[in-house]
Amino acid sequence: LANGLASAPPMGWNSWNHFACDGNGEDVIRETADALVSTGLAAAGYKYVNIDDCWAEPQRDSKGNLVANKKTFPNGIKALADYVHSKGLKLGIYSDAGFKTCAKVQPGSLGHEEQDAKTFASWGVDYLKYDNCNNGDLKPLERGDMHPAKWGAAYGNSWRTTNDIADTWESMVSRADENEVWADYARPGGWNDPDMLEVGNGGMTNDEYIVHFSVWAISKAPLIIGCDVRHMSQETYDILANKEVIAVNQDPLGIQGKKVRMEGSNEVWAAPLSGYRTAVVLLNRHATEAAVITAHWDDVGLPAGTAVEARDLWQHKTVGGGGAGGEFTDKITLDVAPHSCRMLLLKPLLSSRAN
Ligand code: GLA
Repeated sequence: LANGLASAPPMGWNSWNHFACDGNGEDVIRETADALVSTGLAAAGYKYVNIDDCWAEPQRDSKGNLVANKKTFPNGIKALADYVHSKGLKLGIYSDAGFKTCAKVQPGSLGHEEQDAKTFASWGVDYLKYDNCNNGDLKPLERGDMHPAKWGAAYGNSWRTTNDIADTWESMVSRADENEVWADYARPGGWNDPDMLEVGNGGMTNDEYIVHFSVWAISKAPLIIGCDVRHMSQETYDILANKEVIAVNQDPLGIQGKKVRMEGSNEVWAAPLSGYRTAVVLLNRHATEAAVITAHWDDVGLPAGTAVEARDLWQHKTVGGGGAGGEFTDKITLDVAPHSCRMLLLKPLLSSRAN
């Protein structure tokens, strides 16, 4: 959407993946805002604190306005927005284009679209996640079942391309696959969303979460944290706060990465970046066997003969084993452990190309 927002994929946190309905409430939201700032995640770019489903009373008030749940959000959303803003962050909220939201415990916005938009604006809300449950079979925009990637950019800054993620390897890689086919629809201002991050929720290994974060980053997905950042491990923090991987996601070119080669359970993902650089993920989807995976320049979009410096974005160092000057030409081959990936930044060595 050309509203000046989301020139890079949105970054933040959302209550759903960890807290769902039962744990959602103003204390969690406030403490999460505190934790984003105190841990350094806010400084790393995570600016949105988003309240998901189950924040409102089951009934509108006598004027038809949505009302914050009196038990879980006793001070109301405006006070919460003020607090989140005082920390230098932004507040997001959730509604739905139906009679009830997906969890069915609060009204949706169908027939109250303008009223609810004004309510959210009056509270100082900065971001809206708009779901599509319980809509009585009304189709969005009378466009039938057209995929949101095809029309989302006219109405929002990102759109879901997938079913809901779960905190498992199988679910995570399926979301990545379902999202990948829409790559050509992503651009600055409008992004494909394979759903929010499960990093830190406990259902995957650390290597699997590194795959999750690497693939979301190269896919230019919104990076919306879904764990309890008040009590995360150092390993979780180190994934979410990896500045080099975040920089790939936030690169100004805004081109979504694609799978450029698949061989059995080996995959090569690649995305062009600004400055003639290229991001690459070498992904081993096999559960038990290590792999040796090659990125060929032909596949990742580099001209033949280009010499590059390869930086490992998880080990935070230049990859050794190249030519005399440490360079790699035409391909790079690395070992990749089971259910793991290597993420590389390839930077052309222009002087050597000129020869
Ligand atoms: C849908 C969405 C989820 C979450 C729930 C809330 O399933 O896809 O991300 O917002 O609704 O009920």
